[in-house]
Amino acid sequence: MTIAIINGPNLNLLGKREVDIYGNQTFDDYFITLKEKFDQQAILTYFQSNHEGGIIDHIHEIGYEYDGIVLNGAAYTHTSVAIADAIAAVTTPVVEVHISNIHAREGFRQHSYSATNCIGVITGLGLKGYELAIKYLIDRKK
Ligand code: DQA
Repeated sequence: MTIAIINGPNLNLLGKREVDIYGNQTFDDYFITLKEKFDQQAILTYFQSNHEGGIIDHIHEIGYEYDGIVLNGAAYTHTSVAIADAIAAVTTPVVEVHISNIHAREGFRQHSYSATNCIGVITGLGLKGYELAIKYLIDRKK
């Protein structure tokens, strides 16, 4: 069982970026705890890019092999038809995650192009959303 976490632009700055919204933990630190938590159940990989094409290339690379993808496309969620198309093109199921509650924020964040092609969306539960998405993808394979 292999699950990829893919984070989009500016999420490399977690821990120092708008900490009132996104918290003060770095994703690298959080990823260590995630790997420990799911040690017996899944191999987790982590990829982050600030570039739309990099995210698309990575979805293509793993999207016919891996058992699940947890995607936080960050701002591309609200702009990228190309990422939405990449999700539709691959066979690996994708769960979309947002740290903040995109429905409680500015109007432009309330629409997700990518969500249309995902199994579901977890939004507003902080970093915990990634853990819940992984758990869902593991349970769904059982
Ligand atoms: C985000 C929400 C997006 O609107 C924003 O552009 C991000 C992060 C989140 O995780 O809450 O960069 O995806």
